[in-house]
Amino acid sequence: MLAPLQERHDVDVWPGDEAIPRAELLRRVAGKDALICVLSDRIDDEVLDAAGPQLKIVADISVGYDNFDVAALRRHGVIATNTPDVLTEATAELTWALILGTARRVVEGDRLVRAGGWKGWTLDFMLGTELRGKQLGIIGAGRIGRAVAAKAPAFGMTAVFAQRPGTPATATGEPKREAFASSASFDEVLVSSDVISLHVPSTAETRNLIDRKAFARMKRSAFLINTARGAVVDEEALFWALNERLIAGAGLDVYVNEPTIDPRFATYQNVVLAPHLGSATRDTRLAMMNLAAANVLAVLDGQPPLTPIP
Ligand code: DGY
Repeated sequence: MLAPLQERHDVDVWPGDEAIPRAELLRRVAGKDALICVLSDRIDDEVLDAAGPQLKIVADISVGYDNFDVAALRRHGVIATNTPDVLTEATAELTWALILGTARRVVEGDRLVRAGGWKGWTLDFMLGTELRGKQLGIIGAGRIGRAVAAKAPAFGMTAVFAQRPGTPATATGEPKREAFASSASFDEVLVSSDVISLHVPSTAETRNLIDRKAFARMKRSAFLINTARGAVVDEEALFWALNERLIAGAGLDVYVNEPTIDPRFATYQNVVLAPHLGSATRDTRLAMMNLAAANVLAVLDGQPPLTPIP
């Protein structure tokens, strides 16, 4: 990623293993023409003012850009880019890892074996849920939602995309029909799915989309999978649903206050907790970094960015 940038520009790289502290970001961004950042860096007026008027582009190494104050970027006339497409398959694979992990109790089993608690094979030991013949409900028919749905037939599942809540069946914005999946209303998908997987961006409209009302509509045998953004699920409502056994379990990759996780999550055996690994494969992270760098090179060359945020 760095070589093509370094060949033509001075590059200041944060050397730390952890996210750059805010004060350090504000200090180092001053006078820069471009900023490449990650989803834990909040890009707002404060950062843009600290950078100065020469800043031309902020390139997020992430497809979700809820860390961007888009209005502030527009006000400052700064181009904003993200990294769509290159992480679609990696995120879809991680989604399936969570589906299989929750339905077949893989992580719970691992904990038991490590703790020396396995007493041997019996007919009714640690029974899980078979996926074959079940319905996968997909909330969000974008690239990642469609890639997740495309793998459903391999497990004998049918996939159903949810129309956005309140969207009439004929309106634009209805999920694209695919050969392997149909679509239904948001409520129908909640009520009829055995696995519900979230693939919507984090926006004001999707905040707490999965709330108490939504959990109350789900099958008691259903699993909720979230590889989108933590804010899409009302975490208090999720604890309520788990305590009341309104759902069978959850597989989570994202949380409201990352990397701080509400300690209550760790108390549930039927919840699989991943540390935001959706795009975390070597191939994909390299592709994301290269795409961010290509966006910066294009803009600094006076060309349009490859993947501006929509
Ligand atoms: C993204 O790019 O939005 C992913 O969540 C990163 O893993």
